[in-house]
Amino acid sequence: MGNAVQTLEQLEQQVKMLQSKESALKRLLEVEHILEATFDLRKLLNSIVSFAAELVEAEKGFLVLKEDEKDELHVEAGYHLRENAVDSSFPLEQCVCAKAFQSGDPVIVSTSHQESLKRFVTREEHFRPIDRSDCEFACTPLKTRGRIIGMLVVVKGADATPFPKTSVELLELFAGQAAIAVENTRLLRQVASTTRSIIATSIRALEARDPYTRGHSDRVAVMCEQICRKLGLPEEHIETIVNAAKLHDVGKIGIADTILHKSEMLYEEEAGIMREHPLVGVRLLEATPLLRQEALLVKHHHEHFDGNGYPDGLSGEHIPLGARIIAVADAFDAMISDRPYRKAMSRAAALAEIKRMSAVELDPNIVSSLIALESGQPKV
Ligand SMILES: [Fe+2]
Repeated sequence: MGNAVQTLEQLEQQVKMLQSKESALKRLLEVEHILEATFDLRKLLNSIVSFAAELVEAEKGFLVLKEDEKDELHVEAGYHLRENAVDSSFPLEQCVCAKAFQSGDPVIVSTSHQESLKRFVTREEHFRPIDRSDCEFACTPLKTRGRIIGMLVVVKGADATPFPKTSVELLELFAGQAAIAVENTRLLRQVASTTRSIIATSIRALEARDPYTRGHSDRVAVMCEQICRKLGLPEEHIETIVNAAKLHDVGKIGIADTILHKSEMLYEEEAGIMREHPLVGVRLLEATPLLRQEALLVKHHHEHFDGNGYPDGLSGEHIPLGARIIAVADAFDAMISDRPYRKAMSRAAALAEIKRMSAVELDPNIVSSLIALESGQPKV
């Protein structure tokens, strides 16, 4: 009888364990979709840590990445960490996960088993993610193509039950997926940044051929950044808008110089070709997935606030905010630059003209920001 009860209990325990494994595996599959859909590296790393911590019921967690060639780790993301812990750096040998880096396998570090952990705990200035109350650390290497790119560490406090073997197995499975997602996102960002530099260089070369447009896109980008800051936009939006501003006329690359540099009025057919440039720009940028946001702003930088612009005739707030900002900076810089058919306008005269265009071609709110910025500028 005693044996039968014991077997039943064991069976129940096994069923429970399998159930928890099943639900954890289901969550693993769910999170794979999230990993595939995120191009934002910081968001991706935060999702990885919080998911890993929740998966194995840890109290805290953090993710460190290792810089190539350097023996230094950088805390990229954290879950329930103290303030300022994220973004700190420290030498690899001072990390609780140093052993896992060496072996390439998951390692559980426990304060009760490892006297040496004290040196990590006490040297808070070097290793902020760790507290004295932390008791057990499951360190799982993030490996791609045989290389360890970083470490996923989840942490339990003194009163918690230790990490079971199944947790370590789950973390290892998850870390495999997470490492691929991190590497892919890094590669995509690299591709996007190289593409951006190539396009920006081509634009500079295009503008340099014409003394009237030399440096135009870079000046528009600087002005866009100032307007964005005046409007109090979040940093990631500013980055996208500034990048799009540098590339806004990329579609002009394919337009013949005879049209591009013509000093007289364009014939209808030539004007039609010029009006194509936002769409040509989109086609060039859309091929790179991480430039899609910028492509959208490039597409709409000639829309008018009243709906009479091109290519889609969008109006008001239907025009993406970044495109409305680029439109204002683009118009203002064109006015204060020499053109083949007229001399540059003074900043004051250009500002008066911009005011006339407010609510017709340009967003009145952004025009106000430009006016406010200009009122702080020395008058020319
Ligand atoms: Fe343009």
